[in-house]
Amino acid sequence: MEQPGHQHGHHDHHQPGHQPGHQHGHQHERPADFDWEAMADSLELDGMMLLPIVHDIVRELAGGTDWSAVRHVIDVGSGPGVIATALAGHAQQATITALDSSAPLLERARARAAAAEMADRLRTVEADLDHGLPALDEADVIWASMVLHHVADPPAVLAALYQQLRSGGTLAIVEFAGPTAVLPPHDPLLATGAWGRLEAHIAQVIGERLGSDPLQMHWPQWLAQAGFTDITDRVAVAHHAAPLAPQGRQWVAKRVTRGLQMVSERITAHDAAVLAELADSAAARDDLFVRIERRVLTARRA
Ligand SMILES: C[S@@+](CC[C@H](N)C(=O)[O-])C[C@H]1O[C@@H](n2cnc3c(N)ncnc32)[C@H](O)[C@@H]1O
Repeated sequence: MEQPGHQHGHHDHHQPGHQPGHQHGHQHERPADFDWEAMADSLELDGMMLLPIVHDIVRELAGGTDWSAVRHVIDVGSGPGVIATALAGHAQQATITALDSSAPLLERARARAAAAEMADRLRTVEADLDHGLPALDEADVIWASMVLHHVADPPAVLAALYQQLRSGGTLAIVEFAGPTAVLPPHDPLLATGAWGRLEAHIAQVIGERLGSDPLQMHWPQWLAQAGFTDITDRVAVAHHAAPLAPQGRQWVAKRVTRGLQMVSERITAHDAAVLAELADSAAARDDLFVRIERRVLTARRA
């Protein structure tokens, strides 16, 4: 059994020009699509905003999973470990393996687990899913949240995850679904279409960076091909009501500023200005909410 803590060699992320992400010794020719390390703070906030969906999946969706009996969870593409740590809270007897290709994000995951006094139950593994899975203990649960649209060959990764599950084990996948809403119905940014254009441009940029539309991926078909059974596929919603807690307000501001950076070449100066005002005012507004949709699939190894 592997020891908790960091596996695999040190990764020099201070090298000039180094961009973490899809760049390590490629078997495929896709360029680095996201600078994960630079996004670490945003990823932590994103993870926190997704927690209601994580709790839903744990409670309702991963049908038949007895979380008190779960011994090993692998969170692939764990990023900074917000969800991995939450899963450690649900599966009190389990070791959680947080697997990611970004060493700095795994360092955050270890710090988070330590702060939650769960350091002894979380281990991190630096690995690129595009290069196959490293040797790991078999898992009762594999979690793959917002990562499988980044891999070069999703069906091949699903086949590898299937092999990694024990018989009767469950895979949970969280993926993109519909647009995000934050504004009350009377807000002028809805009537003028500025919010809708931002959301549409963000979706377009993400699709271009990935080289495919993440909403059009054939998860149920690929899961079945990989051998999975009991496949469920639904849309789950994380709803954070107004008035938002400080973290939610911060998430709205970051979502808008990060979105504006992504779409700067395709948005009008007027839209950019009014949306920047929204980001600036998010901390003070009591009428903003957050509604995030995600597609959730679960499947079992018979
Ligand atoms: C959007 S984040 C999701 C983080 C977390 N699972 C969540 O849902 O909040 C995507 C994560 O996948 C990792 N990732 C992307 N491509 C990967 C690959 N080929 N192998 C391993 N990890 C990868 C990134 O480093 C990043 O931490």
